[in-house]
Amino acid sequence: MKIFLDSANIDEIKELERLGVIDGITTNPTLASVTGKKFKDLVGEIFSTLSDDKIINLEVIATDYDNMLIQARALSALDKRVVVKIPCTEDGLRACKTLSGEGIRINITLVFSAMQALLCANANAYYVSPFVGRLDDISSSGIRTIDDIRTIYDNYGYKTQILFASVRSLEHILQASLSGVDIITSPYKFIKQMYNHPLTDKGLDQFLSDWKNANQEFIV
Ligand code: E4P
Repeated sequence: MKIFLDSANIDEIKELERLGVIDGITTNPTLASVTGKKFKDLVGEIFSTLSDDKIINLEVIATDYDNMLIQARALSALDKRVVVKIPCTEDGLRACKTLSGEGIRINITLVFSAMQALLCANANAYYVSPFVGRLDDISSSGIRTIDDIRTIYDNYGYKTQILFASVRSLEHILQASLSGVDIITSPYKFIKQMYNHPLTDKGLDQFLSDWKNANQEFIV
């Protein structure tokens, strides 16, 4: 399963890029805005922070077909790592079909149902982003939606990749990996929590103190 960082914060992106465990990032207009940076400057910083093999999801803000095409083409032309996020609306689906036909990779975002995801696949979306946490927030089952999308895509051999978005907990990441999604996009804090464990720290302390007490010497 690929792991994306759901953030436009350069410090967070730098740290996890250095760690070598992320395959890319997702941003959205909210995440870009909270940085307080001009979008153009922010995008430039993101490009220079991530290595050549990473995916960078950038979102259009246009809501009509014609302007979605203009913005998506402009974002895609910036860098070969860009996947363009487009909302799951009537104009968005239409734009997805057109842009996919031009070889531009589209991530259809703000997806909340398996029926929306089915249309995204028919529109040749590269990624579909179901927002699991936001479904759970309204007491609807986000995980059930993920399972339904996985089944539908497998039934018909759709190539659209499922990108589990709106992560609210480590449990979500576990459920995502068990349900067979292709990618998860997670906030920084949950990726940190994935590798931190108190028993790892305790065990390491014990190993090192036993070594020291035995006056052992290492080979180099
Ligand atoms: C995904 O691309 C979105 O940026 C993100 O996962 C939204 O998550 P939120 O519901 O925490 O805002």
